[in-house]
Amino acid sequence: MAQQKATNVVWQDGEISRDDRYGLLGQTGATVWFTGLSGSGKSTIAVALEQALHGMGKLSYRLDGDNVRHGINKNLGFSEEDRRENIRRIGEVAKLFGDAGIISLSSFISPYAIDRDGVRELHDKAGLKFVEVFVDCTLEVAERRDPKGLYKKARAGEIKNFTGIDDPYEAPARPEIHLHTDKMTLEQEIDIIIKYLVANGIIQVQSFDRAADASAHAV
Ligand code: ADX
Repeated sequence: MAQQKATNVVWQDGEISRDDRYGLLGQTGATVWFTGLSGSGKSTIAVALEQALHGMGKLSYRLDGDNVRHGINKNLGFSEEDRRENIRRIGEVAKLFGDAGIISLSSFISPYAIDRDGVRELHDKAGLKFVEVFVDCTLEVAERRDPKGLYKKARAGEIKNFTGIDDPYEAPARPEIHLHTDKMTLEQEIDIIIKYLVANGIIQVQSFDRAADASAHAV
């Protein structure tokens, strides 16, 4: 993806290891990566999951497309090049969070498979867990929901390159979790994710009963 521009830069190790940090926090860092159309439910699920994890005493942090585009990525638009850079940067940020010991919850359309795979590879190489969650719903349903009124504007030609209308979305071929938000309740979705995190050692088993409680309260 991006070229290394700086030369004469040398990686510096510290005295505190990743395991030290994980031990301090009593949890394992990981990246939960939500991908799907605008209006599919990515942010809603991330907000509820954050609440459920918090209730279990697990530190998570949401990275959300709309929020991040006000800050670190405020210089990026929606061209293919900018969307790719958007995802590359967030992939790096998520990796740092995971290394720090935090469970980051990333909600970006992330329309291109190659970029999501790039983030996955980045995590694999760093020995960090990456959980791709396909937040799936039909374009028809997303457009009917239209929470920000953007599909209406895109149909009217007021927004160009809108994902699903005149810009592509490449669905994941093998996501770890596939949610159908036009058929499931938010509570069911949170339950599926929490169970996956427990089954894969991202959240410890003793937290499991509290997980059920927390997810019940999250919605
Ligand atoms: S991504 O394609 O680069 O991953 P990202 O998730 O950061 O997108 O931002 C998507 C959000 O930006 C949408 O939910 C919507 O609110 C807003 N948006 C504005 N213009 C567009 C556009 N052309 N296509 C998609 N989303 C857009």
